[in-house]
Amino acid sequence: MNREDFIPDEIWVRDEDGFFLVPLRRQDDPQRWSELCRGDDGITTQVDDGTGRYDGRGVIPTSSSSAPWVMARMLDLLDVRDGMNVLEIGTGTGYNAALLAERTPTGQVTTIEIDPGIAGHARAALARIGRPVTVVVGDGAAGFPDRAPYDRIIATASVVTVPYPWITQTRPGGRIVLPFTSEFGGALLSLTVADGTASGHFHDDAGFMRLRGQRADRPVWWLGEDDADVRTTCRYLDEPFADAAAGFAVGLWLPGCTTGQIEEGGPARTLLLSHAASHSWASLTAGSDGQSDGHEVTQYGPRRLWDELEMAYDWWVNAGRPSCARFGLTVTPDGQTSWLDYPERVIPAS
Ligand SMILES: C[S@@+](CC[C@H](N)C(=O)[O-])C[C@H]1O[C@@H](n2cnc3c(N)ncnc32)[C@H](O)[C@@H]1O
Repeated sequence: MNREDFIPDEIWVRDEDGFFLVPLRRQDDPQRWSELCRGDDGITTQVDDGTGRYDGRGVIPTSSSSAPWVMARMLDLLDVRDGMNVLEIGTGTGYNAALLAERTPTGQVTTIEIDPGIAGHARAALARIGRPVTVVVGDGAAGFPDRAPYDRIIATASVVTVPYPWITQTRPGGRIVLPFTSEFGGALLSLTVADGTASGHFHDDAGFMRLRGQRADRPVWWLGEDDADVRTTCRYLDEPFADAAAGFAVGLWLPGCTTGQIEEGGPARTLLLSHAASHSWASLTAGSDGQSDGHEVTQYGPRRLWDELEMAYDWWVNAGRPSCARFGLTVTPDGQTSWLDYPERVIPAS
């Protein structure tokens, strides 16, 4: 068994400008198709939820075969042993479900996929290869209670908020591995479940497409530019947007934010930060000399998002610039909290 057994004949690759995704059909370029399947990168297998809304081109990848090295790392963290009952959220091609089934030959693997067409392709591939996996069509945010309790749950679509059913459907002592994300950066998370709660550390940086239902809110910039507060600053704070560790930490402080960037040529760059739920946004525009002073901070709405961003960043610097592996997350029936080093050192999410 290898990845080629699961990849559909039509995959999506970036065009020359790197903006659109365009189809690559196996029959048109079998060599490139095979090279991509044998490579160590993710392969996009669906764009824009399969709507075809951009005239045969794609903008947003909505299903993929994840990069094999990330899959291997997640399977490592999951530590599946023979006899275990395992649930995967996000079937995609079915390749990861097949790898799970190899690890628990006398156990049980269930995988849930929201898109019926994708689920059908995976079901057929798994049957062809002879892996006894049950493929279910549904919203994995609710888990799959029919076959709970699970020893292991793995999600292959990322979340901002860990769905609580995943905790209640995992046996105490069981493990959940998932890609966690914020607008500023993502990382793999492994949680150990106790009775009704779960806690654990983040690991490597990793970017994954979001679980449907947890996609970013529509940004609210320009909502009320006339009423916005404007101040000047000598501080051009762009590290949270450019550095993975800084971004990850700041993202834990500022959940629910969306980021954006406008390149206007030269140093006049605007970084934006938006929080749809509070109808607030903020931006930083470089001063005309692009260097020392005269940068402009604009903040609109009840929250002062740029001030919050600076506070979060300063906290991260004072804490010694910790990488994502020093952070962790605890989930209870009341919600989730993130922490640095140990669960009592809670990050004051604003
Ligand atoms: C990165 S791909 C999964 C890769 C897959 N495990 C493999 O081995 O190819 C993420 C998948 O999650 C699916 N997905 C997104 N939101 C979902 C949801 N709420 N419930 C179930 N599946 C979901 C997407 O349709 C997509 O197929």
